[in-house]
Amino acid sequence: MKGIILAGGAGTRLRPVTKITSKQLLPVYDKPMIFYPLETLLNAGIKEILIIIAPENAGDFLNLLGSGKEFGCKFTYEIQDKPEGLAQAFIIGRNFIDDDNVTMILGDNLFEDDFAQDIQGFQSGARVFAKQVPDPHRFGVVEFDENQKALSIIEKPTNPKSNYSVTGLYIYDHTVIDKAASLKPSDRGEYEITDLNNLYLQEGSLDVAFVNGRWFDTGTFESLFDATVFARERTLSKQS
Ligand code: G1P
Repeated sequence: MKGIILAGGAGTRLRPVTKITSKQLLPVYDKPMIFYPLETLLNAGIKEILIIIAPENAGDFLNLLGSGKEFGCKFTYEIQDKPEGLAQAFIIGRNFIDDDNVTMILGDNLFEDDFAQDIQGFQSGARVFAKQVPDPHRFGVVEFDENQKALSIIEKPTNPKSNYSVTGLYIYDHTVIDKAASLKPSDRGEYEITDLNNLYLQEGSLDVAFVNGRWFDTGTFESLFDATVFARERTLSKQS
């Protein structure tokens, strides 16, 4: 199993702070944001991690993270020239993934749960993780039938069919490379991860698991603040 952390994007919702640095380098309590998704991958035993970054602050990521030796793993870096969607990570990362399975986590997502079993036990197809949220229109939304079987995933729907959001953690087999290459950009000009997940859904190989603990997509000031409060409480409770 290989890992990808996608830390591209312009962080427009966090201006003016992100005018001079990347969103994923901002502090969430006592660590840079990217440390949290990195820990999720490391806790699952992943040793080879591709970090995809925007060109603007690439040097800062290298200074912060280095070769990976300090973390007991190996980092590879690639540049995403423009924020053209999450699924582009598998086009950029095709040589890195090669014939292996891959877990991708978004550089601004913070999870309380440990996903070691889900990641280590994964064999083929795709697995995504859903969480009930109060504001599903901000996310990819899963529609289920009465037996909790996924029927569709719709990106940022105006009228969501459920309140189950797809979170920023995805596990794929190596067919993700060809699937991602077959995608066309959406109306917002992005290669959508939701389109990719729907390809797996159509072939009957998409598994939707659930997130039990807290989950934060820290891309807005509100969610960044909430994540900071959560990370502080968690750290303090471990110390006492
Ligand atoms: C992206 C995905 C969306 C997913 C979300 C999770 O949204 O497109 O399906 O629910 O990440 O954080 P974006 O970051 O592009 O708003």
